[in-house]
Amino acid sequence: MAAPRPAKSREEYNALVEYYRPQFATPYENVKFVRDLLVSRGRPRPGDVVLDIGGGAGVMSFWLAKAFPGARFVVRDFDPGVVEIGARLLAEHGATNVEIGVGNWLEVIPDDVGRFAGVVSTHALCCLPDARPAIRALTALRPEWILIESLFYDGPLDVLIHIRNHVTGNAEEDPDGHFNIFSLPLVRSVFRDEGYARVTTVPFEIGIDLPRPPDGRRGTYTAPLGTQPRAQFSGPVYLPWHAVVADRDAPPAP
Ligand SMILES: C[S@@+](CC[C@H](N)C(=O)[O-])C[C@H]1O[C@@H](n2cnc3c(N)ncnc32)[C@H](O)[C@@H]1O
Repeated sequence: MAAPRPAKSREEYNALVEYYRPQFATPYENVKFVRDLLVSRGRPRPGDVVLDIGGGAGVMSFWLAKAFPGARFVVRDFDPGVVEIGARLLAEHGATNVEIGVGNWLEVIPDDVGRFAGVVSTHALCCLPDARPAIRALTALRPEWILIESLFYDGPLDVLIHIRNHVTGNAEEDPDGHFNIFSLPLVRSVFRDEGYARVTTVPFEIGIDLPRPPDGRRGTYTAPLGTQPRAQFSGPVYLPWHAVVADRDAPPAP
């Protein structure tokens, strides 16, 4: 069970506002990747409600809501401080079809079952220790589709990576201190067992060069790797970002 997040100091709060503010001003590359993938699939449709789980301050939903003005986005994150910042920035930017609130990914709320046409989650599954209960908590909601952007490996291995930051002194239990990579065959089998056999995987190939932070701190940068012109890294960690989209099986004919 995920522990509740500790309250933020005024300095942490202000630093996070400044971290998120530029993301509300310009869509970052992963936002464009997820948005374009959904546009290519014609989802969500007008009238659909979409859950954005582990949605942080709601940046992804903010941009998706602009791309899909007829849909409604419900952002949930278990960090009340980030949710407070998100509510403030969404209001400042006049977002109307996005709402944000506190919620734990792993707790299935009975009223949510059947409520969402789709579920989006970006850069959050990799913060959890195990993909299996996390995916089952989403399939339990019975959405038509689930899109998870996270770190995946096409082999029978999960690789759990935890960052200790010796500058900021991140606490051992900081959930954002993980870059966990989950096995695609495992993820596909969990989806299949839960009635989502149609699973598509799309690698996130970033279109711009990002420089390495000069002091070695955390932050995505790009470098060539094998046939990839711009593989993504943070510190010493290779980041195999993918979107996994699972579609619910058609119900059997009566
Ligand atoms: C790296 S941030 C990504 C935020 C956002 N999805 C984005 O793409 O900007 C990961 C988020 O997952 C949230 N998170 C981690 N575990 C969670 C859980 N069990 N339930 C809900 N949110 C969780 C964290 O609080 C954090 O805001």
